[in-house]
Amino acid sequence: MRAEINGISLAYYDHGTGLPLIFLHAFPLNQMMWAEQQVLASRFRIITIDLRGHGESDAPLWHYSLDQSADDVRVLMDHLSIRKAAFVGLSMGGYILLAFYRKFADRVKGLALADTRAQADTAEGKEARFHMAQTAYQKGPSAIADIMIPKLLSPATIRTRPDLVQRVRRMIEGNQVSGIAGDLMAMAQRPNSVPFLKEISCPTQIIVGELDLATPPSDAKLMAEQIPGARMAVIPKAAHLSNVDQPNVFNQIVGAFASDLSSSGDY
Ligand code: MLT
Repeated sequence: MRAEINGISLAYYDHGTGLPLIFLHAFPLNQMMWAEQQVLASRFRIITIDLRGHGESDAPLWHYSLDQSADDVRVLMDHLSIRKAAFVGLSMGGYILLAFYRKFADRVKGLALADTRAQADTAEGKEARFHMAQTAYQKGPSAIADIMIPKLLSPATIRTRPDLVQRVRRMIEGNQVSGIAGDLMAMAQRPNSVPFLKEISCPTQIIVGELDLATPPSDAKLMAEQIPGARMAVIPKAAHLSNVDQPNVFNQIVGAFASDLSSSGDY
């Protein structure tokens, strides 16, 4: 499915009925990373999106920011006549959710923040983004896949699931350099959201893979401590893409969270 959103064509997938559950993917992937979460459509309305710069969506040369992606999501919600939704954002998807909540808290029924963090990039982190953008420009998306795959999946998955590794590689290689560089700039510019966490008043579920090195359990714990009433779940044997590494456990956590939210109606 496609929609014209904020001057670009955005690809998305919408199926199932009930509480809308909107999934925002990680860098530098696309909505296919949620393939194993589609089973939740037997209980909820599942919406996945190729964010601006990814997959089948347009990847303009200009302009990327997390606020811009949050605006894209809000306009897509209007397009789909969704007043309020629960959200699942993993890593960069979580950064976008924090931006979304800052702007449109009244559209949020609940937040599941997976394998993400509230802190801004350090100076070294920003420098690394710049170098990765140069690598993307000079060598193309497959060089980005080489760098990212060991950060995304657990060593056991990389050793024993070549099919999955190939799937993740294809997602990364399917992106355009403009989108990859745009994301890197957007992430480098994000603010420190730690002071903002205590203002989050909707139900919140924090999820993290125990082996996540990119956004480790200590980052998740910080969010769970600062967001009033937040729950936290650590997924054993999962790395950064905890939903891909351990989909059944991930789905149980998100399913239970969304069930609690849908029992109160109001969406
Ligand atoms: C992601 O998975 O979205 C990225 O690792 C996030 C980041 O680079 O900060």
